[in-house]
Amino acid sequence: MLSVKGLNTEYKTPKGPPVKAAQDVSFDVPKGKFFTLLGPSGCGKTTTLRSIAGLEKPTSGEISVNGTVVYSSAKGIFVPPNRRNFGMVFQSYAIWPHMTVFANAAFPLEVRKDKPSKQVIQDKVMGVLAAVQLDHLAERDATRLSGGQQQRLALARALVMEPELLLLDEPLSNLDLKLREAMRFELKRIQRDNGLTTIYVTHDQGEALALSHEIAVMSEGRIVQIGPPRAIYDHPRTKFVADFIGTTNFLEGTVKGETGANRFAVDTPIGSMTVASEEKLSSGMPVSISIRPEDIELSETALAAEGGANIYSGSIDATVFLGDFVDVQVKAGSAMLQSRTHPSLSASEGDTIHMRISPEKCVAIEDTVRA
Ligand SMILES: Nc1ncnc2c1ncn2[C@@H]1O[C@H](COP(=O)(O)OP(=O)(O)O)[C@@H](O)[C@H]1O
Ligand SMILES: [Mg+2]
Repeated sequence: MLSVKGLNTEYKTPKGPPVKAAQDVSFDVPKGKFFTLLGPSGCGKTTTLRSIAGLEKPTSGEISVNGTVVYSSAKGIFVPPNRRNFGMVFQSYAIWPHMTVFANAAFPLEVRKDKPSKQVIQDKVMGVLAAVQLDHLAERDATRLSGGQQQRLALARALVMEPELLLLDEPLSNLDLKLREAMRFELKRIQRDNGLTTIYVTHDQGEALALSHEIAVMSEGRIVQIGPPRAIYDHPRTKFVADFIGTTNFLEGTVKGETGANRFAVDTPIGSMTVASEEKLSSGMPVSISIRPEDIELSETALAAEGGANIYSGSIDATVFLGDFVDVQVKAGSAMLQSRTHPSLSASEGDTIHMRISPEKCVAIEDTVRA
């Protein structure tokens, strides 16, 4: 549906070299899918989205939608934004005051050159207001809506043009936490029920994991990994991705050798560790092993190494009770590991604790630079 190939977008600066805000960005989004650009502030998400919309002119690359090229440096094509028929909602969405909810949603149709008939506008607007569940408030002054309702109205206004593609730039970021979580479900429902191909920009990893069919993680203008939420979470390819998506422990180690099919032994500060890896790890290679806190199983009694699991012991350095789970800091060898466990754990600070870590949950990432 959407295809972005080798996109580069730069900003000129008054002095010095241009800012390379998007570099060699490529991805494909099938029809009806929810695709997210995720990364820290300044990594080039908005630039990429604005380039797709036609609000920025890239320096090179190609963008096509449904097989129609809307930008191509090689072919000299640049379709202006108003002719791309994309719906957009930004972080700073503007609801027009002194206008009803209906008038706000109808605005994009009213200003069209080929303005539809009154009846068509009525039907379309009531249709999108129903989709975002605001139809019962159609006659209300738009400023008398709650934050979440205003957000839904901004979405309705983007949907009324029946866009081929919906572009959303951090649309939930100025809502409070509770509302943001509620709106996640709303957004997902609206996207799914209407089969909308959506490109979503956020720096919030929880939002990205909850909403997306696929996530592209960006860093310094480039996409560093693309995949479904689970794959990105379970198999981060770089330390940046492992660290940015969720919480993780890193153990620096050195590969000792292969011990079985897709099994490798790694020397770490807590002892020898068996790691599962589809890719071959060569002896002597420096690696960081990423282990999620929820994958370190704790036990107050000694553990047997069944099924090839990694077994270690250490002492509890600190515990933090968080209601439905406990975060436990465990000192083992020269390392400190964080484990997330069930609140039934009764051991406390200073106690000996045993750990079990499945090799499948140990992700070895090659260390290219080690300080
Ligand atoms: N209009 C602009 N002029 C110059 N530099 C810009 C402009 N907009 C963004 N940048 C720079 O481009 C980089 C990417 O910005 P942006 O795409 O807004 O990132 P994100 O949306 O991921 O926070 C940043 O270094 C930012 O400072
Ligand atoms: Mg941005």
